Amino acid sequence: MSKEQTENKTSVPSGSPPIEVHDLTVAYDQKPVLWDIDFELPKASLTAIVGPNGAGKSTLIKAAMGLIEASSGYTLIYGKPLDKQRNRVAYVPQRESVDWNFPISVMDVVLMGRYPHLRLFQRPSRRDKEIAIKALTETGMDAYQKRQISQLSGGQQQRVFLARALAQDADIYLMDEPLAGVDAATEDVIFNKLKELRDRGKTVVVVHHDLQSVPENFDRTMLLNLRMIACGPVSEVFTDDNLQKTYGGRLNILSQMIEESRQQRFVRETDS
Ligand SMILES: Nc1ncnc2c1ncn2[C@@H]1O[C@H](COP(=O)(O)OP(=O)(O)OP(=O)(O)O)[C@@H](O)[C@H]1O
Ligand SMILES: [Mg+2]
Repeated sequence: MSKEQTENKTSVPSGSPPIEVHDLTVAYDQKPVLWDIDFELPKASLTAIVGPNGAGKSTLIKAAMGLIEASSGYTLIYGKPLDKQRNRVAYVPQRESVDWNFPISVMDVVLMGRYPHLRLFQRPSRRDKEIAIKALTETGMDAYQKRQISQLSGGQQQRVFLARALAQDADIYLMDEPLAGVDAATEDVIFNKLKELRDRGKTVVVVHHDLQSVPENFDRTMLLNLRMIACGPVSEVFTDDNLQKTYGGRLNILSQMIEESRQQRFVRETDS
């Protein structure tokens, strides 16, 4: 374990959960899109936020990070107000919400992950650059350091975003659909990194659309549709009943898909 990791570990007070959100209500133009959300998540966990389009998943992450104004509610990070702890949280926005034509190189995007560690007007040091290169290497993007972000494929953009979050070396990672639109190879790279972060004691929260891959890859799930339908270990809350409440009439297709994927896995496992 590096010196930095050891310092990070020892600075985490025991007792308070890494992240807790209370009474969170968010409205756009007076219309509530999130209603009275309460949850807390433990250390060393990997959580999938699932729910239909427009359910409020992105809004939840942004409001929990204080990036948009909430009508009510608050976030505590290790028991302390978000403002004092913001640097310990890495946020990866949904790919569609970013202007990819902005003239900036891959390296500069990843170095932005180091900004919370720098003092005002301090430039990134050689060490910050080394950390950025390591993060790019870990996501298989080191050959693209000088490339403008407008010249990347969708999957490459997702990898660069992940590298920026890794370079931040946070305790909590909130990621909005990091696996959207990626091919199988990129999906493997990203899932492996997420699990590695979890195994290093981090709290990782991922908005995720592929329900089939939830049981296999996540420990916990939040089912969201305006309200929190359920939040807890996958084995307890990822049930047909809760999926029905979250997705309504589309459930039949969903449970069929999940059942099919279970059967396929069973066949694969018995074959091998
Ligand atoms: N800036 C905004 N102004 C007004 N309404 C908004 C704004 N952003 C989101 N909304 C509305 O809030 C609701 C929740 O949006 P949000 O983006 O959080 O959903 P989501 O669950 O992330 O959906 P998706 O799966 O499509 O990403 C939607 O009805 C959306 O139309
Ligand atoms: Mg969204």
